[in-house]
Amino acid sequence: MGTLAGYLTDVVGDAFGQMNLPRELGVVRVSDRPDLCQFQCNGAMGAAKHAKKSPRDVAIELVGLIAAHDAVEKVEIAGPGFINIDVKKSFINSFLSENSRKNLFGFVRVDNSPSVVLDYGGPNIAKAMHVGHLRSSIIGDTLRRIYKAAGYNAIGDVHMGDWGTPMGMILSELELLGHEGPVTMEMLAEIYPKASAACKADEARMELARSATKKLQDGDVDATKRWQEFIDVSIAGMKKNFDALGVYFDEWKGESHAHPFIAPMVKDLKERSIAVEDQGAVIVPVKKNDDKKEFPPLILLKSDGAVLYGTTDLATIIDREQSYQPVKIVYCVDQRQSLHFEQVFRAARISKIAEGTDLIFAGFGTMNGLDGKPFKTRDGGVMRLDDLIEMGLEKARARLSEANLDESIDEQEREDIAHKVAIAAIKFADLQNQRQSDYIFDLDRMTAFEGKTGPYLLYQAVRISSLLRKADVFDEDAEFIIGEDELPLALLLLEFADHFENALKNHAPHVLCEYVYKIAQAFSSFYGSCHILSEEDQRVRASRLRLCAVTRNYIIAILGLLGIDVPERM
Ligand code: ARG
Repeated sequence: MGTLAGYLTDVVGDAFGQMNLPRELGVVRVSDRPDLCQFQCNGAMGAAKHAKKSPRDVAIELVGLIAAHDAVEKVEIAGPGFINIDVKKSFINSFLSENSRKNLFGFVRVDNSPSVVLDYGGPNIAKAMHVGHLRSSIIGDTLRRIYKAAGYNAIGDVHMGDWGTPMGMILSELELLGHEGPVTMEMLAEIYPKASAACKADEARMELARSATKKLQDGDVDATKRWQEFIDVSIAGMKKNFDALGVYFDEWKGESHAHPFIAPMVKDLKERSIAVEDQGAVIVPVKKNDDKKEFPPLILLKSDGAVLYGTTDLATIIDREQSYQPVKIVYCVDQRQSLHFEQVFRAARISKIAEGTDLIFAGFGTMNGLDGKPFKTRDGGVMRLDDLIEMGLEKARARLSEANLDESIDEQEREDIAHKVAIAAIKFADLQNQRQSDYIFDLDRMTAFEGKTGPYLLYQAVRISSLLRKADVFDEDAEFIIGEDELPLALLLLEFADHFENALKNHAPHVLCEYVYKIAQAFSSFYGSCHILSEEDQRVRASRLRLCAVTRNYIIAILGLLGIDVPERM
């Protein structure tokens, strides 16, 4: 289990068992009234009926059994039968000592590393990445890290948009321009908006784009070669951006990789009457009897035979099933695409192409500007991801020049710190919100060294590092002597596995943000109320230093799950 509450759940569960009551009633939680007790169990209320006694009488008997356990300092009944528990400090000393050494602080990993595919990033070829892709990348990469830490074979797949009509728009534009030879990222950035506008304005131009797309999808050698050229250029640009952001992918696949699976899939679904012809198109009806609203079918082929977004997504599931046999596929995509994914998931279930695989839509809200509307540049355009990182970097540099940096830090290290501060600011500001809610991108607020920000957490971790450096030597195995000042921090650290599990189960990185922020605050109070370096009792000093070191490990590990790197000093 790894948590102290989990340990006590076993202790109290045993007591229920001894009374021939269901063990499951013995769930112990961290108290929501820390002023009264550390832990509580409300199981006596539910057990009363079983036992044919009043909750209070059940509780009295339970308390007698629980009190006999070595770990228990105090156990009392509150109200009609709530049980309040405090743990002996000596027990906390040894429990923390043990857990802080364990892999993932005692969280029990899954066996046999089942595969989970995480679909995030989703940038589109030739178009600059914008902030819409920022959230997907940050949240998705964090979920990948969490799954990986939990023991899964987590596979991050960027799933680029590299196969639709925009590809034909570019190909036809290059042809109209008579362009031969390689293309650059700059050229693409110029060509694509021009081609797209021209196609919108003129049906004949659009037709050129469509037929170029068809040619590409039909495997035309020339078109494929041109396409591959600008794909390569685009990917190189994306990799640069994602590297700067500290976001990683195991697979660089795109919609195009689904192509070979499409024809056999359509054939199979038609043969099984799951896909049907409808006014020349091929569709999969996915509505259910209990749908409250009209539920549109998934369109596999348009009447001209062209494939759509849903077609590639369904075929991609087949690819993933064959490549990884995943237990889950988690899509980290803008919430506004939830209907699309519901259609795809339903089609996958009806056709049984993903048996045994949980298809999960982990949607997220919009990143808004200070005006509350979707984030834009000053001139009203879409903010590009590289510009946004640069903005964060500039702000971080300014913040650092206001701060009293360690004098021995040279230019290069300073720049490295600024980068870490910028990324911590951007990522933490995003991840700390409940995934589904919108949030306001406020560069000033998120780069501050005070408040619930990434830079504040970096600062706390670095402060501990510098304290430990000043201590010269400290004993990593020092005996813990947890006193009143250390207690809240120690108890909080022993909650790790619960928060981790919650974040994992619910695809909810904000749970870890909340938790690491609480740790930093608890550390601050401990630091404010205790002597550490100047403590005269050497055993207490050693224990406090070890608590500092352990706290630092927790903060760094949790920030690591959030994709945030901590500098050595600042
Ligand atoms: N390229 C898409 C976009 O920019 C996102 C892709 C999301 N993933 C997926 N499997 N459809 O909106």
